[in-house]
Amino acid sequence: MKGMKERVAMVTGSGQGIGAAIARRLCEGGAKVVLNDVDQARASAVEGELRAAGYEVSSFVGDISQTEVADAAIAYAVETFGTFDILVNNAGIAKDAYLTKMTDEMFDDVIRVNLKSQFLLARAATRVMMEKRYGRIVNVASRAWLGGAGQVNYSASKGGVVSLTRTLALESGRYQITTNAVAPGLIDTPLFRALRPDHQERMEKTVPVQRVGKPEEVADAVAFFADDDSGYINGQVLYVCGGRSVGAY
Ligand SMILES: NC(=O)c1ccc[n+]([C@@H]2O[C@H](COP(=O)([O-])OP(=O)(O)OC[C@H]3O[C@@H](n4cnc5c(N)ncnc54)[C@H](O)[C@@H]3O)[C@@H](O)[C@H]2O)c1
Repeated sequence: MKGMKERVAMVTGSGQGIGAAIARRLCEGGAKVVLNDVDQARASAVEGELRAAGYEVSSFVGDISQTEVADAAIAYAVETFGTFDILVNNAGIAKDAYLTKMTDEMFDDVIRVNLKSQFLLARAATRVMMEKRYGRIVNVASRAWLGGAGQVNYSASKGGVVSLTRTLALESGRYQITTNAVAPGLIDTPLFRALRPDHQERMEKTVPVQRVGKPEEVADAVAFFADDDSGYINGQVLYVCGGRSVGAY
């Protein structure tokens, strides 16, 4: 595939985990990357590593689930690198509880960060992409959109991501802006390692390939959709979950 030479990208939540791996992968593909995280120290650490490796990166620190911040993030990318081509909506949080124990706040926070941020950034990015008749939007969903006990907020947010992706594919395709989603299963990141160890072990056994995935494996799928050569792939969801979307093993 051609890669992403000279393309300008933003990866939200790229201060660690899957987002950091995606940022590195897009750099390797030739893109200039704006990192984003709500945590300044995390963003700076990844920026330092990628700069040391010789890549063109910059950071925008902020909570992209707030309208002004999302708009400012895209404006920052355009100011810094002159244009905008690739949006990777990766930032996400989990606040798990069974329904009767889930508070309004837990529900609202997860919907806001996981779903609303993707809408806000897609809107801001599309305004730039429409002008140049080019764009790649890759949304990070989750296998959990199919349903996950104890995750009514998280599952609903990721189901919303799938619907958002499909709708943007219809609306924005005419401007040569493609929108696709990657749906990871269990991936070895701080988010997964924050689960109780016995829970981690039990979940790992439900994966047909019998292991957790690596952030780099998700990053490769994102890079596939973000590639210059992927212009005829639009509105699709690619699972990176070791077969768990088919059913628990
Ligand atoms: N790890 C998994 O097993 C797994 C599985 C399926 C889907 N996912 C999805 O992949 C994405 C990345 O997950 P991860 O495991 O790397 O998570 P992570 O918690 O390791 O990293 C997420 C990063 O996003 C940042 N962030 C959180 N809220 C933010 C906000 N409002 N604005 C900007 N940055 C924010 C955090 O500070 C953190 O650095 C998420 O959307 C998650 O739902 C993860």
